[in-house]
Amino acid sequence: MRRPFIAGNWKMTQDRASAVALASGIAQRVGAGNGVDVAVCPPSCYLDAVGQALTGSAVGLGAQNMYHEPKGAFTGEISAAMLLDVGCRYVILGHSERRHILGETDADVNKKVLAALAAGLVPIVCVGETLDEREAGKTLDVIRTQFTGSLAGLDAGQMKQIVIAYEPVWAIGTGKTATPEQAEEVHFDLRKIMVDCYDEAVGQTVRIQYGGSVKPDNAAALLSQPNIDGALVGGASLDVDSFMEIIAGAA
Ligand code: PGA
Repeated sequence: MRRPFIAGNWKMTQDRASAVALASGIAQRVGAGNGVDVAVCPPSCYLDAVGQALTGSAVGLGAQNMYHEPKGAFTGEISAAMLLDVGCRYVILGHSERRHILGETDADVNKKVLAALAAGLVPIVCVGETLDEREAGKTLDVIRTQFTGSLAGLDAGQMKQIVIAYEPVWAIGTGKTATPEQAEEVHFDLRKIMVDCYDEAVGQTVRIQYGGSVKPDNAAALLSQPNIDGALVGGASLDVDSFMEIIAGAA
């Protein structure tokens, strides 16, 4: 049985006070024994403060990005070791906003995934098609290319440590959610790709989150699909009540 995993992607929102208040509110309400893994991913400048607000709670801390080099003259970048040092357990890699707005390629994401794993972080690796790609019938090709490119060179043991997030680009921040059936179809295929590229054990172990306009009123239907193991939540993770309702939908 794969343990459900709900993560909040706060993107470039919040100030210090609101980030700490949001983290504290979630930390107070997430119990250790509800059978769901929960994490929040604040902007990097608030990781330390949010990590302190989460101390002693069941909520994990994640970053939204990192650089693959361990240290050196890389102005503006943050390493895996720095993320661990401020208490991160997770790092989102290859989010579609980084791919499409900041120009990250599968090869860039691959270097980051390998560096994150080597340092002991759990990468949440995002894949997803654009609307044009879906309408051209290319969804599964795009997913397969992103999967093989972003995860090149991982052995079966490393694969089992990662989390995949399927986030159709057309559903992110738009209010248009993939239907549970549309999402399940891609999750099923992702699992099949993992069985093809690795083995049955990898295919059955790796958790695949869905992301893209997950809200309290659609979370339970998405999360009840057999191959959807959690959610990567943007907008609806910025309010304690709505994030808690989504977590309840996974329990
Ligand atoms: P959204 O964002 O829930 O606001 O659509 C999801 C994401 O980008 O991870």
